[in-house]
Amino acid sequence: MNITVRKFDALIIGAGGAGLRAALQLSNADARVAVVSKVFPTRSHTVAAQGGVNAALANVLPDSWHWHMFDTIKGSDYLGDQDAIEYMCRAAPKVVYELEHFGVPFSRLDNGTIYQRAFGGQSQNFGQDQAARTCAAADRTGHAILHSLYQQNLRARTHFFDEYFAVDLIKDDQGYVLGVVAFEILTGKPIVIEAKTTLIATGGAGQIFRTNTNALSNTGDGMAMALRAGVPLEDMEFVQFHPTGIAGRGMLITEGARGEGGFLINGEGERFMERYAPKVKDLASRDVVSRAIAVEIREGRGCGRNKDHALLDLRHLGADTIMKKLPGIREMTLTFLGLDPIEQPIPVFPTCHYSMGGIPTNRDGQVVVPVKDTPEDPVPGLYAAGEAACVSVHGANRLGGNSLLDILVFGRAAANHILEYLGENPHHRALPQDSVDRALERLARWDREGEGEAVEPLRRELRKVMEDHCGVFRTAEVMREGVAKLQTLRERIDQAVIRDHTQTFNTARVEALELENLWDCAIATMHSALGREESRGAHSRVDFTERDDERWLKHSLYSLQDDALDYKPVRTQPLTVESFPPKKRVY
Ligand code: FUM
Repeated sequence: MNITVRKFDALIIGAGGAGLRAALQLSNADARVAVVSKVFPTRSHTVAAQGGVNAALANVLPDSWHWHMFDTIKGSDYLGDQDAIEYMCRAAPKVVYELEHFGVPFSRLDNGTIYQRAFGGQSQNFGQDQAARTCAAADRTGHAILHSLYQQNLRARTHFFDEYFAVDLIKDDQGYVLGVVAFEILTGKPIVIEAKTTLIATGGAGQIFRTNTNALSNTGDGMAMALRAGVPLEDMEFVQFHPTGIAGRGMLITEGARGEGGFLINGEGERFMERYAPKVKDLASRDVVSRAIAVEIREGRGCGRNKDHALLDLRHLGADTIMKKLPGIREMTLTFLGLDPIEQPIPVFPTCHYSMGGIPTNRDGQVVVPVKDTPEDPVPGLYAAGEAACVSVHGANRLGGNSLLDILVFGRAAANHILEYLGENPHHRALPQDSVDRALERLARWDREGEGEAVEPLRRELRKVMEDHCGVFRTAEVMREGVAKLQTLRERIDQAVIRDHTQTFNTARVEALELENLWDCAIATMHSALGREESRGAHSRVDFTERDDERWLKHSLYSLQDDALDYKPVRTQPLTVESFPPKKRVY
C-alpha cells in the first residue's frame, strides 16, 4: 500500500489543554510541531471544565503555594508524589498569568484581579480555614482556556491534523518511539506521522463507565496505545466519581456551585454533609462527598420517588449570583431537566469524572518504565501529559481545580524537555516497517465482514460491567466476576464486525477502535482495583475498609502482557521543603 508519510520534530496526540499548551511552547521555539486530534481541537474535553484552575494568587483570601501543596497531598490520600506536587503548586501562579496574557477572559474582582472561588479540600494554614484558590471564568473556564490556546497555536503556526484517528505508536527495536500510524476519519486513508518525539495528551478514559461527565471521545486511546507498546499503566484503580453529576444522566454540575455556597440535602431535607465532614461540610474532598451521597441513598435517605439521588440546593444564592457566577449550569439544567436552579434544587448523583491513573511520567513529562535495579528509565522519544498521564500529582484522589493546572504545568514542562531532547537528537531515526505494519493490521482487522456482533451494544455492555463491578464501593468477589465478564467480552469484541461500511465518515471504524481501547483501560482498572487490598482516596473496598500505609503506600503498575501487576514506591520527598507524612484524613 502506498501510504503518505509526513515528518515533524514533535508530534502531539490530542488537542486538549495539555496538548495545546505543549504545542504552543514548541511552536514558539520554532520546532516543527504536528497535533493530531480525532475531534476538531476546540471540541476536546478541556472545553467542558467548568469551575476553574487552582493557583495560590491570594486575590480573595491569603494563600501560599505551600498550603496548596499540603492540600493536594492530603487530597491525594498521601499517594501523590510530593516532588511533583511541589513543582506543580509552585508553578501555578506563573501558568495562570501566562493564560491571562494569552487572552483568557477570567472573571474579575472589583479591583481588576482574577476572580477566585472556594473549592473542596482547599485550606489556609495547612488545614485551618477555607481557602479560595480556584481562578474562574464564570463556570466556563475550560472553554475559555481551550479557545485561547487554540488561537495562540494558530498564530504560532502549529500544524493540525484535525479529525485524524491515531491507531498505534511506532516503536523501533531499540525502544525509541518514532511517531504514530493514524487515519483520516473523513476518507479512511492511513498516514504515517513520523516524529523525533511523540507526546500523548489524549485525556482520560471516563467512558469506561456508563454514567460519566466525560465527552464521548474520552475513550483512553493514548493509555491503551501505551499499554500495547509495552508501557504499564500506573494507579488505574483510582477513578474519581464527582459528587454532583445530574442524576441519571451524569453531566457535570460544577463544584463551584458548592464553592459559591450551594449545599446538598437528603430526602429528609437534612444537610447531611455536616455529619460526614463537620468542619468544611459540602466542601470536603470529592471522594468523601461522593461516598456520603452513596451512603445516604443506601440507607434509605435518598430523594425523589425512588429515593435514588440527593439534591443540590442553590436557591438561597439568589438569581444574581446564579446568573453571574453559574450561568452555564443554569443553562444546562434548563435544557436537560427543564429546571431552573433559581427556583428548584438540582437532583444529583456521583458520576465518573476523572482518571487519576495513567501513563507513568516524570516531572518532565517523559514516559518512564520501571526497570530492575534502577527506579525508572525514560522511553526515548515518548512523553505524556494531562489526564492520560500519571505524574503523579493526584494520587488516590484529585482536588477540584487541579486538573486544569496539571495540563498547563506538565504540558509546558514536557515541551521544555522535548526541546532539550531535540537538541541532543536532531535526526530522524530509520522507520521500523514491522511496527508500521502491525498498526496497519490493527486497522485492517476492522475491514472484516460477515456475521458477528455489532460494536455499539458491546460498548454499552462494557460500561455496564464497569459500573456494576468497579463502582464507588468495591469487593473482591464482585470485581472477580467483573474480570470474568470483561474477558468474555474481549472474545466477543475480537469477533465483532462493522455492520455498515458505507457509514458516513468512517465513524463506525473509529468506534470499533475506541472499543478496543476502552477494553484495555477497563481491564487495567479492574485488575489494579482487585490487587489493592485497602481503601484509599477514591478506591473504597468494603472488604478492606482501612487505609494501610504499611503495605500499600505504593503505586500500582498494570501491564497488558499476562495481566501483570507490579508496584513502585511513592516519592515522599519534596524538592525543597519538608515531607508531609501520612495522617488520618479528616475534613
Ligand atoms: O466541578 C468542577 O468544576 C470540576 C472541576 C475539576 O474537575 O477540576
